[in-house]
Amino acid sequence: MTGNLVLIGFSGAGKSSVGRLVAKRLGWRFVDSDQEVVGRHGRPIEQIFGEEGETRFRTYEREVVAEVCAGVKQVISLGGGAIVDERNKQVVMNGNYVARLAAKPATILHRLEADRGVSERPLLTSPDPLQRITTLLAQREQHYQATDWQIDTEGLTPAEVAELVLAELKERMR
Ligand code: S3P
Repeated sequence: MTGNLVLIGFSGAGKSSVGRLVAKRLGWRFVDSDQEVVGRHGRPIEQIFGEEGETRFRTYEREVVAEVCAGVKQVISLGGGAIVDERNKQVVMNGNYVARLAAKPATILHRLEADRGVSERPLLTSPDPLQRITTLLAQREQHYQATDWQIDTEGLTPAEVAELVLAELKERMR
């Protein structure tokens, strides 16, 4: 059992900011699958999408997920679409603690706009990003439900969510 903590959920759910805080508290390594892809391929995500397309990005993402999940003592923030892929789902759900961070579409948009994150998310580029988020979230909900550990982040700061995660993780690790 690799026993990593994997955070899944839509963009803007807080996976990276919460993940960083939790990793620090545990003394574990923090890994962001998007940043791994960016580091390995030397370009921002939107450039990879633009130049090579989503299918190629998903291949890169799958390679990263398989490699990273083979390690131990890590908090892994998974790109929002990664868990939709069956192979990723199998790798992630095999011997790791998997928590889904959830938020409503309006909250997601608000958080992404606050750090100009919409333009960095090629799949959300749309004249009506709220509608796009709502549709994509509904399509993915069944995949985000792959874990029984669901955390509602509405109205909570990353630090508050991190506390919830740490408390539950402690229980689950017993
Ligand atoms: C994606 C989410 C992004 C990134 C890419 C695709 C998605 O990650 O992997 O833009 O399919 O929802 P975040 O969840 O970190 O934004």
